[in-house]
Amino acid sequence: MDTIIVRGGRQLSGEVEVSGAKNAALPILASSLLVSRGCSRFTNVPRLRDISTICTLLSTMGARIDAHEETIDIDASGVSFLEASYDLVKTMRASILVLGPLLARFGEAAVSLPGGCAIGARPVNLHISGLEMMGASIKVEHGYIYGRARRLHGADITFDLPTVTGTENLVMAATLAQGTTILRNAAREPEIGDLASCLRRMGARIEGDGTATITIEGVEELHPVEYEIMPDRIEAATLMVAAGVTSGDFLLKNCPFGNMGAEIGKLQEAGMIINPVDKREKSGHDALDVRVVGQRPLAGLDVKTMPYPGFPTDMQAQFMVLMCLARGTSVITETVFENRFMHVFELQRMGADIEVEGRSAIIKGPQKLSGAPVMASDLRASASLVLAGLAAEGETIVSRVYHLDRGYFQFEKKLQALGADIWRETAKAV
Ligand code: EPZ
Repeated sequence: MDTIIVRGGRQLSGEVEVSGAKNAALPILASSLLVSRGCSRFTNVPRLRDISTICTLLSTMGARIDAHEETIDIDASGVSFLEASYDLVKTMRASILVLGPLLARFGEAAVSLPGGCAIGARPVNLHISGLEMMGASIKVEHGYIYGRARRLHGADITFDLPTVTGTENLVMAATLAQGTTILRNAAREPEIGDLASCLRRMGARIEGDGTATITIEGVEELHPVEYEIMPDRIEAATLMVAAGVTSGDFLLKNCPFGNMGAEIGKLQEAGMIINPVDKREKSGHDALDVRVVGQRPLAGLDVKTMPYPGFPTDMQAQFMVLMCLARGTSVITETVFENRFMHVFELQRMGADIEVEGRSAIIKGPQKLSGAPVMASDLRASASLVLAGLAAEGETIVSRVYHLDRGYFQFEKKLQALGADIWRETAKAV
């Protein structure tokens, strides 16, 4: 297994570009299953482990996939194996995103239950109950979700809580259902808007994405599309925190600035300077080049993670590192997942003063972090440990970086390009 080694203390400078958004690419690639004839082309697709996993899943189903750097061509006309097996789904929960498209196009699906992960139980009951309301008959047994539907029909569905992939699954299912579907209390994340834009380009009729009520009018067929994935707001915010923890000053290119109000607001409140330097039009995406300046002293502040447009749970671990270096006491409350503080124990080993009380972490700063061997437990926790290493005195060795590679493409190379003293060691095959 690879490790990443960081020697802290460098101030980052220069420029770095934000890659395509993992959490937009995953549902969009899954949506290719809805197209029964022809080949779609997706560009600006981030080169991540999770992307290769979903491509492997789609090709085992019979889709033809051609991937070249950030461009992926998918022809799903030959799909005939309607199963997502446990050995693939257990490596990436987002495989559940094939359930809605399979039921919509083929009326049949067998998808392994994703099971929990390090950050929580991650149930999919809302995906299932929504599909049942659209006419699917679903059995859950032997760890699999077996679904059947002669043809899905429209329904008026209210989610108990805003689920991102639940909303995405039902939006995709509804595009080919008979009649109109209304999703209420739907998630509002920008990645859902990206999926809806791509589906509209395929011929779907969708309104209200980005609000809590989405209306989808079913059509008979969707056609192939060429689509560019939006930039990744979580990678962008993670790189902003890298400026904050190193008192860096650099240019962040292709940043989805307009989708980042909550996290940019908190970083600015802590004392960082974050300003667009120009407006670069990317096809369909407002992407800005942004100057990011971390400066000391940073002010400690309270944050509560919430569904979009609130502060994203996917930035909680990274923001915690910044608060370790800030003056005063900060309280970070995680309201979305029940076990998303695994990084705390590793940060404590680096000298952070953090107390966990239920769903809240109380951070006292500023703390001088010291480099140490640490272990990643999940995707965003691994990013937070690398960020802590950038600020720490001495050497930090982050193990199990396969977690990091799920959501960040060559993260250490991007930080190296900004002047960080960081490199990857690949374990020798024994
Ligand atoms: C998506 O996960 C993201 N993943 C996660 O990003 C992100 O943390 C999460 O949304 C919240 O923003 C992808 O988009 C691929 P949810 P998802 O359904 O859809 C409960 C990362 O780091 N819930 O919005 O699985 C659930 O337990 C990953 O990139 C149910 O109870 O999250 C959680 O408490 C991590 N029943 C809450 O809703 C359901 O049927 C929000 O989960 C579904 C969800």
